[in-house]
Amino acid sequence: MRVSGVVVLGFGSLTVGQEVASTPSACAPVATNAAYPSNSKLPDPFLQSSGTRLGTNDAWACKRAEIRAEIQQYELGPKPPNPTVTATYSGGNIAITCSEGGKSVSFSVSVELPTSGKGPFPAIIGLGAPSIPVPAGVAVINYNNQDIAADLPRASGKFYTLYGSSHRAGGLIAWAWGVSRLIDALEALGSAATSIDTSRLAVTGCSRNGKGALISGAFDDRIALTIPQEGGSGGPGCWRIAADMKKNGTKVEDAPQIVTGDGWFATSFSDYVNKVDTLPYDHHMLEALVAPRALLVIENSGIDYLGPISTYGCSVAGSMVFDALGVKDHMGFSQASHGTSHCQMPSSQNPEVAAFFNRFLLNQTSTATDVLKTDGKFNFVAGQWIDWTAAALT
Ligand SMILES: *[C@@H]1O[C@H](CO)[C@@H](O)[C@H](O)[C@H]1NC(C)=O
Ligand SMILES: *[C@@H]1O[C@H](CO)[C@@H](O)[C@H](O)[C@H]1NC(C)=O
Repeated sequence: MRVSGVVVLGFGSLTVGQEVASTPSACAPVATNAAYPSNSKLPDPFLQSSGTRLGTNDAWACKRAEIRAEIQQYELGPKPPNPTVTATYSGGNIAITCSEGGKSVSFSVSVELPTSGKGPFPAIIGLGAPSIPVPAGVAVINYNNQDIAADLPRASGKFYTLYGSSHRAGGLIAWAWGVSRLIDALEALGSAATSIDTSRLAVTGCSRNGKGALISGAFDDRIALTIPQEGGSGGPGCWRIAADMKKNGTKVEDAPQIVTGDGWFATSFSDYVNKVDTLPYDHHMLEALVAPRALLVIENSGIDYLGPISTYGCSVAGSMVFDALGVKDHMGFSQASHGTSHCQMPSSQNPEVAAFFNRFLLNQTSTATDVLKTDGKFNFVAGQWIDWTAAALT
């Protein structure tokens, strides 16, 4: 049922026809249960857990598989592979049925197509709904992720109806699973039926849905553009930097706190929240999972709870992987203060949002997307967090 699509990203072509790109056969097996030395800095994304330094693009594909396995193991819980997906499209709604092991669940999403122009159109999937300006030529798909996994009570929603309430997945990876099933449905229906071009899909969401949007993009290689908005800790923020901010007296959402509320993480993450230095990864590597596809991180420097230094520093580190892969400008970071008005992006950030849409969804391949900017009044000292240099992977 899968349709292979090729999206041209300005540096060559990348096949985005698979949920998870295949891992080269030469990769060392992933050992996620190894004991890792405690590391108070952001772990080196260019080092395999086996101790091998990465040297090529293929080696990055090995490390990517390792990071995906580690983040699921320690933090998110597993994203189950392909259930059987069937779909129907009528009246602006796609009804999606997922079946596995004799059980099935159905959910639906609403689609708003551009009112002018001729499809197939690129589309953005909004967890909840997008709260960034979407250009006129881009279709909007509104995905009610709470229907798949509710914030609370833990393990409630259609994901758990299908896989059972004792499934190890937390809500965030369950939301990402739903995004992947939606893409399966778009592929199965085909662009002649949907007017949507599955080689030009984006995903977004704000706040907890910003965390979910980043995780959706990190765990599905069919998504061309990922735009998490104000995702803070658990999204583009790094656990280690947030812990340091907390120690310094800033009221940031940190790992020990985040697991006490909503059911977003695997329950086993509680074993690590007070010793985040022992995680073999941090969220700069979650960001790097999107590479070489496109990622634009939108943050708000005005809300301490989001961890402004953490999301900035984490993204400085994450962008080094894009750079090493020769696609530095496929990752952007933009942080602007708009006080406490959460999820109401100020117009000062419109140009970078428009640039990423234009380049990666609307075929304007010459649009400049090189952005790493903040108005934050902090002093991020890279050497405090990054004690490695980028490998040459190209
Ligand atoms: C916490 O405070 C120390 C001492 O002033 C400083 O070096 C460090 O950068 C601060 N951490 C963060 C994340 O701002
Ligand atoms: C953009 O590229 C896609 C894929 O090659 C193509 O289907 C579409 O017609 C192009 N759209 C525009 C506006 O040029």
